[in-house]
Parts: sequence; structure tokens; C-alpha cells
Amino acid sequence: MSHRLRLGVNVDHVATIRNARGGRHPDPVRAAKLAIAAGCDGITAHLREDRRHIRDDDIARLKAEIDKPLNFEMAATEEMTAIALTTKPHAVCLVPEKRTERTTEGGLDAVKQRAQLKPVIHTLKHAGIRVSLFIAAQPAQIEAAAELGAPVIEIHTGSWCDALSEGRTTEAEAEWQLIRAGALLAHGFGLEVHAGHGLDYASAESIAALPQIVELNIGHFLIGEAVFEGLTETVKFMRAAMDRGRANIKKS
Ligand code: PXP
Repeated sequence: MSHRLRLGVNVDHVATIRNARGGRHPDPVRAAKLAIAAGCDGITAHLREDRRHIRDDDIARLKAEIDKPLNFEMAATEEMTAIALTTKPHAVCLVPEKRTERTTEGGLDAVKQRAQLKPVIHTLKHAGIRVSLFIAAQPAQIEAAAELGAPVIEIHTGSWCDALSEGRTTEAEAEWQLIRAGALLAHGFGLEVHAGHGLDYASAESIAALPQIVELNIGHFLIGEAVFEGLTETVKFMRAAMDRGRANIKKS
């Protein structure tokens, strides 16, 4: 089994820069179109409750103007569920926004929040929206996601990426083993497995070698690197890094 690895580009931080001055520039929808033209497979945007970067009309414009799947990241609240039902994105990724919704690794606490998540997952699925849960690669979280009927999980790679970039090699290796085992466990439950948070060229290339993972969602590094290289080049470099990593499956 080795599916093509999809790249979802998160355009939140284009909106962060726009909002630093107000006005319309730079436009996250324009960035999304450029990223698509450069070869990504979908666009991810997080409408936060405080609207700190992406705004409601960005979501509406993304849905109307892009020709690749929109992955709408949101908290599992009534307000966001209503927006998702109106927008009808291809996918929703449920993410934590408040400390109390998070595990120590930073993912959604699907174990503690079963009661809140269940109706939201049910409603979104019923509307034909693919639902994923952004969780740490902890067995208990993965089991809870499967029990809740979420068809997809997105493994939170933040702790692994932080350990890698800070040179904490033992911790990085432990996090990597957790991700590897988590991807296998989730796949065994029949879940589709995605990953994201903190990925750069090197970590995306490494994680691309895990055959159970079929989608990476990447934002901060790509938008930051685009300042130096341009978004088109940056997306192309990322695509090439992921393809190199994927090719390693066949060798191993
Ligand atoms: N996936 C999810 C669920 C996220 O919340 C984020 C961060 O917004 C990302 C992926 C992308 O993380 P980063 O911006 O660090 O690449």
C-alpha cells in the first residue's frame, strides 16, 4: 500500500500578515490559487473563534474560487458547525482552540471531549463533509477517534518537529516511533491518516516514507519560506521533498 501523498497548503499566515495592517493585501485566496497552480492538492484554512487570521469572507471566497478541495479547520462549536454547514467544504478538521480542549502534546483531547465531539462529527458527516480529528499519536486518542466515527485523523507532528529543530535527538526519536506506531494503529482501525504541524522540507520528506499517511497539511514553514523563495518555488520544493520521501517506501 502506497498512496500518493497529498499536500494541503495552509494559508492562515497570509491572512496574519494582511491583518497586521488591515485592508486586503496579501490576499489568502490569491495565495491559495498560486499554491494550487504550483502543484498542491488542497487548501487548508482555520477560522478561529477570535478571527485572528482567516475571516468569514476568506472561507466563503476560498470555497467559491478555488478548484481543489477546501479543508476547513475549526473548533467543535455550534457557531463553527453552522458555518461549515453553510460553506460545505470538502473536509473539516476539528482542532482545539482552548487549553482545556488539548492534550499535553497539543492535539484535541478526543478522550475527554467525546460528548462534545460526537454530535458535531455526526452532523458534519451527515452533511457529506469528511471529518478529521487533529490528535496526538497516542493510542487512547486514536481509539477514541475510531469510536467516535471520525473517518480521518490528522496526527499532530508538533512535538516531533520541535524536538528535531532543537536537536533533542532522543526525544525526536521517541516522538517518531509514536507517530509511526500511531499511523499503523489508525490504519488498522480503518482510519485515513493525515499529519501536520511544524513540518519543513526535511521532516516532510521523512514522514512521507510512512505509507499509511496520505496527506500532509503544511502552513507556517511554507509561508515563511515564500518570503525568500516565492510561494510557487516553495510549494514545488515541498512537493519534490514529499515525492523523494515517498519513493523511499518502495526501496525499504
Ligand atoms: N494541521 C492542523 C490541524 C493545524 O492546526 C495546523 C496549524 O494551523 C497545521 C496543520 C499546519 O501547521 P504549520 O502551520 O505549523 O505547518
